[in-house]
Amino acid sequence: MNYQSQSIDLLPFVMIICKTIQEIRASETNLTFRKKLIGFVPTMGALHNGHISLLKESKKACDITICSIFVNPNQFNDKSDLARYPRTPEADIKMLEEAGCDVVFMPSVEEIYPKADTRVFDFGVIDKVLDGAYRPGHFNGVAQVVSRLFDIVKPYKAFFGLKDYQQVLVIKKMVEQLQLKVEIVACPILREADGLAMSSRNTLLSVEERKAASLVPQIMQEAKALSTHLPLEDIKDRLLHVVNSNPLLKADYIEFCDADTLQPVTEIKPGKKVICLSAIFSGKIRLIDNLFIN
Ligand code: PAF
Repeated sequence: MNYQSQSIDLLPFVMIICKTIQEIRASETNLTFRKKLIGFVPTMGALHNGHISLLKESKKACDITICSIFVNPNQFNDKSDLARYPRTPEADIKMLEEAGCDVVFMPSVEEIYPKADTRVFDFGVIDKVLDGAYRPGHFNGVAQVVSRLFDIVKPYKAFFGLKDYQQVLVIKKMVEQLQLKVEIVACPILREADGLAMSSRNTLLSVEERKAASLVPQIMQEAKALSTHLPLEDIKDRLLHVVNSNPLLKADYIEFCDADTLQPVTEIKPGKKVICLSAIFSGKIRLIDNLFIN
């Protein structure tokens, strides 16, 4: 299906689809002129109710909600992961329309990166550990695209899901370093009935892999329950053993970290928030999850 760009003059009654920066800037000028506060939900599409919950938060807090759908090649360190990333533009547009999104921005790669983005960010420890260690360049690519999208959309607030906990910290750091005006709003994880965190990647799981994946949220709950009476290192070893004993699952990591710095912690100290973060493959599909344990 070929989506035609539409006139911004119809706002706010019809969802506008913009494919170019020129179109989004026209809408932006219009909205600024009307003194509207723009809420922004950046996504890579293959939308689910987790994304829609971000959109709802934006609609509550802002006058106009812009959602972007852009599968950002720069944040995929594994090209086969990029190739298999789910793309469902028609279903996405329908969901956004039903949820009352005002503007959808669906740019091409050339529109976002007319020339290669060579910027290298340094966020200290936060982008080097956990997913930063397992997916080299991933957070640099995220910072590149999110800063570019912020520059185009110029949002008042931007909404991100806490399933990508490390990403939220990275983006907050980026906003601080670049002295951007946007406020980052972190929204709770939405889960399926069996506890699996909602993710676009869940659609890629086979029936068996999906069944095995339900162990991931159970592991997180177990980590929290055990943390009241066992050393964190022992819990980690026990849970890694449980995961890796399942023939369909393989853990990249299960870590207990300081929730602000992402430094690993071995004990829970008063006044310090500890978060358990995991990255576990079910088959070829990598699933991340996290849970505050105190
Ligand atoms: O979380 C995502 O879907 C992506 O990392 C984001 C923030 C849209 C940047 O491509």
